Amino acid sequence: MDEKERQKAIEEERKRISETVSKIKHRIAVFSGKGGVGKTTVAVNLAYGFNSKGFTTGILDADITGPNVPKMLGIDDNPTVMNNQMLPFEKDGVKMISMAGLLQKGQPLIWRGPMRSKVISQFLADVIWEDLDLLIADLPPGTGDEILTIAQQMKPDYAVIVTTPQEVSVIDAERAVNMAKQLEISSIGIVENMSGLLCPNCGAKIDLFGKGGGIKLAQEMSVNFLGSIPIDTEARILGDKGKPIFLEKPDCEVTKAFQSIVDKIELHFKEKELV
Ligand SMILES: Nc1ncnc2c1ncn2[C@@H]1O[C@H](COP(=O)(O)OP(=O)(O)OP(=O)(O)O)[C@@H](O)[C@H]1O
Ligand SMILES: [Mg+2]
Repeated sequence: MDEKERQKAIEEERKRISETVSKIKHRIAVFSGKGGVGKTTVAVNLAYGFNSKGFTTGILDADITGPNVPKMLGIDDNPTVMNNQMLPFEKDGVKMISMAGLLQKGQPLIWRGPMRSKVISQFLADVIWEDLDLLIADLPPGTGDEILTIAQQMKPDYAVIVTTPQEVSVIDAERAVNMAKQLEISSIGIVENMSGLLCPNCGAKIDLFGKGGGIKLAQEMSVNFLGSIPIDTEARILGDKGKPIFLEKPDCEVTKAFQSIVDKIELHFKEKELV
């Protein structure tokens, strides 16, 4: 491919991305400074929450080298490719695309940033999303290339920053909030996950990772506080089984917390539409 053809291909891809994005009413990016704080768990359960309210919802797994969304949805398959386009997976009415099905189990993907960004572009340009009300991007930890690409191409209108209550996570979440501000994502909210451990025997709450770090950060940085989600061993067990707790345990505290976060974000979208 010569330089002229390459430029043309880039231009055409850009066009397809903006066509896709313009058709999706709302776009949420879930990220955090720190790893392992529950971004994927939050992304998946928010998707189920919005889906249950009638939003046609998709998840874009933007964690290219450590994709976990299919595992949490119980999908172990390769995406279908048709005429250079990919069909998203569908589970319980939620659509999803991920690198996971394209990787060999256990094999590391050793790719630099531009290659990872290229895959994210393809997930926007070449996946048949059809009409979505909401697309949620699950990002890898940190403030690297993937979030830049998502910000520039998917144009999120809400950044959900996940932190645990503990200081080392809150410090990293502060970086993530500042990044969302610099990237001019118009709405930013903080979710405090792993906010107290619910004892499976007696139901008492143990503040394993401390208390209140998320709400304090939200106040200090003048962003929305969306809510706290406790640690519930069921959330982890069901997550590993590919069964989101939102669907499996509708009455538990974790699901109620997700429900309330979904309600807050929906209300925010409605209020913004009125402005
Ligand atoms: N509220 C919770 N209660 C119990 N377990 C949880 C909770 N939130 C997350 N987990 C578990 O903690 C682990 C890490 O969660 P998850 O994979 O969602 O984090 P992550 O931020 O996406 O990680 P990474 O940075 O690697 O992408 C998983 O095993 C998940 O099931
Ligand atoms: Mg993750």
